Amino acid sequence: MMKHLFSLAASLGAIGASIVSQKSARGTLTFTYSPNITRVTISNPPINVFDANLASDLLEFLLSIQPSNTMPLSPPKVVILASADADFFIPHIDLLSILPPQTAAKTAFLDSCTQVTALLRNTTTTVFITEIDGRASGIGDEILLQTDLRFAGPGARLSQLETAVGVFPGGGGMKALPSQISRARALQYALTNEAVGGAKAADLGWVNGYFDSKETLRMGVDEVARKIALRPAGALEGAKRALPRLYPHEAEYEDDLKKFSDLAGSEETAALVKGYIELSENQTRGWFELGVPESLEELF
Ligand SMILES: *[C@@H]1O[C@H](CO)[C@@H](O)[C@H](O)[C@H]1NC(C)=O
Ligand SMILES: *[C@@H]1O[C@H](CO)[C@@H](O)[C@H](O)[C@H]1NC(C)=O
Ligand SMILES: *[C@@H]1O[C@H](CO)[C@@H](O)[C@H](O)[C@H]1NC(C)=O
Repeated sequence: MMKHLFSLAASLGAIGASIVSQKSARGTLTFTYSPNITRVTISNPPINVFDANLASDLLEFLLSIQPSNTMPLSPPKVVILASADADFFIPHIDLLSILPPQTAAKTAFLDSCTQVTALLRNTTTTVFITEIDGRASGIGDEILLQTDLRFAGPGARLSQLETAVGVFPGGGGMKALPSQISRARALQYALTNEAVGGAKAADLGWVNGYFDSKETLRMGVDEVARKIALRPAGALEGAKRALPRLYPHEAEYEDDLKKFSDLAGSEETAALVKGYIELSENQTRGWFELGVPESLEELF
């Protein structure tokens, strides 16, 4: 189905038309196709928590754009990742999934998280752009850090909340952040959970640029995507490959995941996670989730 729509978008491109929309299997993503560009809008109510549904939908999408012999038409040159929720990009992982006891379903979920981030890092045939105008913490921030370009709006709030619930950013984001903002700053943000807004994130290099309204953000991102999409695919891929390798060996990500899972099994972590689930009224929109990271102090 998705392959079919890529070809549809391509033929529409040939006649100058654009825009076809479709939803992912579990409904958490809306794909808007135009020639060479796919806009992916996340909507996973109540607050876009990164749960098994969202992880599976993203994974299926990323697998569907891998070049293969069975896919005669080229993958989109640009994928834009955005959120339908004005307050939240992706606030964090589903914390219920890291509460003991470990089950096969929880292990499979963590595995799909690592596949999503690996595919964002290792797909060279598509340029990934994140458009952020809400809260992105934990895995949400790690996902945007592993896309190629990122632009923020006035509602953006980037942070890593993990240490406040007894784990750490184990989804690959910490391999990418130091080269953007320095190791000492990356570590400060990881250790204290402090947040940065969009303008400061642009100054620091955490994101590529800042736009001061939701409208100019969207227009700015679409304009960057449109420019990139006119360039030949081979040149774009060449450019992505020519940059020095930002990412360490895959084994390091596996080590992080193992350490993360070990910590998630500890009593101290479980108590903090339970506290978080209670105060956030089970990860729903309210003072606690909207107040992260400041509200995290209530856990101690
Ligand atoms: C990219 O990551 C995926 C998911 O982990 C993996 O299956 C695939 O082999 C990787 N591809 C390359 C070229 O490393
Ligand atoms: C889409 O990509 C093709 C192939 O590189 C190119 O000829 C065409 O101009 C691009 N169209 C748009 C609208 O980006
Ligand atoms: C939290 O909500 C989920 C559904 O999103 C439900 O499965 C779970 O039982 C709830 N947990 C608690 C502790 O209320």
